[in-house]
Amino acid sequence: MIIAIDGPAGSGKSTVAKLVAKRLNYRYIDTGAMYRAVAWTAQKKGLDLTDESVMTKIALSLNIEFVPGAEGQSVLVEGENVTTLLKNETVGRGAATVAAQKFVREVLVARQRQIGETGNVVMDGRDIGTVVFPQADKKFFFVADAEERGRRRYEELKSKNPGLDLKTIIEEIRQRDHEDRNRKISPLVKADDALEVDTTRLSIEEVTDHIFKNINNL
Ligand code: DC
Repeated sequence: MIIAIDGPAGSGKSTVAKLVAKRLNYRYIDTGAMYRAVAWTAQKKGLDLTDESVMTKIALSLNIEFVPGAEGQSVLVEGENVTTLLKNETVGRGAATVAAQKFVREVLVARQRQIGETGNVVMDGRDIGTVVFPQADKKFFFVADAEERGRRRYEELKSKNPGLDLKTIIEEIRQRDHEDRNRKISPLVKADDALEVDTTRLSIEEVTDHIFKNINNL
């Protein structure tokens, strides 16, 4: 079984996808982390992120692993645990740049299909239900108001970053939405057969319960 959860930044998809995967004893694959891993590697090396052929080479050669651990799941890049480093906003902005590149997407989508091939996976991203696994058994599309998504991001990041400004974060969320929805290749869009879940006024538990009710109706 393949469960696809797509949606914009801060819609709650990663948190819920992780919980659903845990309860079902499935693997959880955060595809955003793969785009972030490419951006992080390029930034670390001081490379130009708009150079598609260089970014594609990185995507092709990078060893990205998802391993279950204390934090629910860790992301290893070339064996290094970069789970926290990848959450950085600079890396997020870089990820949006590389995610708009055709060949980078082709390489990472192929990898995502390979990972999901064996089944029993919960995969979250922007194009899982539309491009990566159009035949997924269950598809969800999460949405939430930009203000609420900004607040969630703020709560998540503020302990490590005391100078953080909520208004700036909401603005960044809006900017990211714009980039993700308007890029030419695989823009963020709901699959026709995905169930839309508005998480604005729902707790994590309420969203998770909603998903389980739906999965049980299979
Ligand atoms: O979900 P996230 O914030 O970790 O995603 C980082 C960037 O990668 C974001 O700009 C959207 C993009 N992305 C994508 O285009 N396709 C995916 N399947 C996952 C993420």
